[in-house]
Amino acid sequence: MVNTATDIPTYWDRYAQGVAPQQDAEALADAFGWTQYPHHGPGVELLDAADSALELGCGRGNAVAALAHQGAKATGVDLSTVQIDQARQRWEPLGAQFVHADAVEFLTGAAQRWEAIYSIWGAAWFTDPDVLFPLVHERLEPGGRFVFSCAPAVPGSYGVQGMYGAGFTGRQVWVYRWAYETGVWEDILTRHGFTQVQVWEEPAPEADHVGTVMGIAHRSG
Ligand SMILES: C[S@@+](CC[C@H](N)C(=O)[O-])C[C@H]1O[C@@H](n2cnc3c(N)ncnc32)[C@H](O)[C@@H]1O
Repeated sequence: MVNTATDIPTYWDRYAQGVAPQQDAEALADAFGWTQYPHHGPGVELLDAADSALELGCGRGNAVAALAHQGAKATGVDLSTVQIDQARQRWEPLGAQFVHADAVEFLTGAAQRWEAIYSIWGAAWFTDPDVLFPLVHERLEPGGRFVFSCAPAVPGSYGVQGMYGAGFTGRQVWVYRWAYETGVWEDILTRHGFTQVQVWEEPAPEADHVGTVMGIAHRSG
């Protein structure tokens, strides 16, 4: 396994400070954009009306709040203190729950199962899938589903991708993310026990713009 940088939480805290604020109603209405384009692509229906849901890398927590608002038991996990503090303050009154933790550590220690575990450009592609996916599978209810979105791989550049998180003149902070062609994501999910696996690239609204990788996989019922 690749070594992890020491300062990833600080990288994500800095990222959190750059996220534009939204009014509550707008934030809830826009919460289930799986793609990077507003009002584009599939929505909350991908979670199949799950009664219990866990988001890995929930950021501001808008999607967790939207599910709680609809009556689901919804929990978000994120390793950024800034994101989790803001999400708690804003969305806990709706019944949403937030945990400050790394997704792998949280799932390793978790005792409960969820009907849906999901990640919107979150921990699913910032964590080695050979580490994260078995833990996700283990914590799904039988018949439950894992749904995630992330960027497509740059053609010819597959597997772990490294980037300097504080620029080329700043402290040595590096962040890893993982990128594969859709068929390889399907193979990885299948190898870790998922069934009814489907990974596709959702096209961008405009031709030749960057699309979105979307994945859905199930734990056998
Ligand atoms: C690009 S943001 C997306 C946030 C949110 N899902 C959204 O759509 O706005 C990625 C988020 O994943 C979180 N994250 C990255 N790696 C993580 C990990 N291993 N465990 C928990 N959270 C993680 C970051 O702190 C950040 O909030």
